[in-house]
Amino acid sequence: MSSYQLPDLEYDYGALEPHISGRIMELHHDKHHAAYAKGANETLEKLDEARDKEDFTRLPGLEKALAFHLSGHVLHSLFWKNLAPKTAGRPEGALADAITNDFGSFDKFRRQMTQTAGTVMGSGWAALVWEPVGKRLLATQIYDHQSNLAQGGLPIMVIDAWEHAFYLQYENRKTEFFEAIWNVWNWRDVAERFDAVRDATLDLAGASR
Ligand SMILES: [Fe+2]
Repeated sequence: MSSYQLPDLEYDYGALEPHISGRIMELHHDKHHAAYAKGANETLEKLDEARDKEDFTRLPGLEKALAFHLSGHVLHSLFWKNLAPKTAGRPEGALADAITNDFGSFDKFRRQMTQTAGTVMGSGWAALVWEPVGKRLLATQIYDHQSNLAQGGLPIMVIDAWEHAFYLQYENRKTEFFEAIWNVWNWRDVAERFDAVRDATLDLAGASR
């Protein structure tokens, strides 16, 4: 049976400095993210046990735990790939065209994504999502790792707005973190993700125009 594992970072902990400190990256990846992958695997084991024993009394709690830990694992795995050292700039090609089409301009998109992250109440994320029914990009807010999602949306770019992502360096000045992160987006990665998902379909003819 397959299980989830912590992916290696493709750059050094300190590679995103000064925008994200090496110590934050080390704790965030090695401790926080690792706990979500472990939690997802442990929850799957408990679901196996429940099926074996035909005892589903704890099922609602296990389903909630699976959504939380697995979503945390997916979003952090994506977040690390979305980032890279010294990459300031803008997306190009089809991704740039789609952003202009769906948000009006890159600057409007950037402002909306930054605000989406900055106005999360409690812990959560901002996510750029490809919505395959309307065939459009959306900037969405995710609570914790799993709530407030529109079903079917495929995330291609995410901003971690949990305090563990910035507090050690930015303390309560989280807006500074959400501005600084625009210096380290890996636009090539986001563009490749866009190309990979833009033909996804839920086969719901008649549900959009
Ligand atoms: Fe995080």
